[in-house]
Amino acid sequence: MGRGIAAGNWKMHGSRAFISQYVRSMEGQIGGIGHPVVLFPPAGYLSYLTEALAAAGLSARVQVGAQNLHPEVQGAFTGEMSGEMLKDLGAGWVLAGHSERRQLAGETNELVAEKVAAAARAGLKPVLCVGETDAEREAGRAEAVVLGQLDCVLDRCGPEVLAAGAIAYEPVWAIGTGKTATPELAEEMHRLIRGALARRSKPLAEKQPILYGGSVKSGNAKALFACQNIDGGLVGGASLEAGEFMEIARALDE
Ligand code: PGA
Repeated sequence: MGRGIAAGNWKMHGSRAFISQYVRSMEGQIGGIGHPVVLFPPAGYLSYLTEALAAAGLSARVQVGAQNLHPEVQGAFTGEMSGEMLKDLGAGWVLAGHSERRQLAGETNELVAEKVAAAARAGLKPVLCVGETDAEREAGRAEAVVLGQLDCVLDRCGPEVLAAGAIAYEPVWAIGTGKTATPELAEEMHRLIRGALARRSKPLAEKQPILYGGSVKSGNAKALFACQNIDGGLVGGASLEAGEFMEIARALDE
């Protein structure tokens, strides 16, 4: 199997009825998809989704992950969940450093690195999200920002931890805006990321899945995934419709 992964970040969307319906429509459409598909529901729905997938016989084809974790195992952290708890609820993956967490919850590069380390401790595959804002790109700082986000995690956790999961390049100006990065622009950043990894470990860099995120939909997925260093997608809005998400996942096989 190659580096391809189709990941769906549901953000704060979903309900039990939505999940039942979603899994039913996946059943008929997932045949022929030859790479991992991972869904990231709100944490409270992890076990419901895991059980619905098992009941539909899809556990081997569709994996489940959480959108965030707290670095500690347990303690007086009201409203938080540890990696160990998420794993207990059925998660195999976890997002770390999504730009909405960086912006809305003030997550720093150092905290994101702690979260990636905690994911590894809990036996979860991390998806490290990196990406620059519009202002940072306008100021010519896109590459420095993204490499700074990456290096902070690599310095703390080493390249092996990320190689077990994925990196997602998500330019903030493309998230939920309908404004997708051109395949050329995205590929340039993905190549830069792989180059930075190669300076730490060439064999790991070659195996590292690097996903693109930011307004991926069935209409643009094929052109993005055709790029040499774009190994799949972290899809937000378009992953809320099973048919559309399966079409995006299929674009990885073409
Ligand atoms: P979007 O979100 O596909 O809705 O732009 C992507 C993400 O934030 O992971």
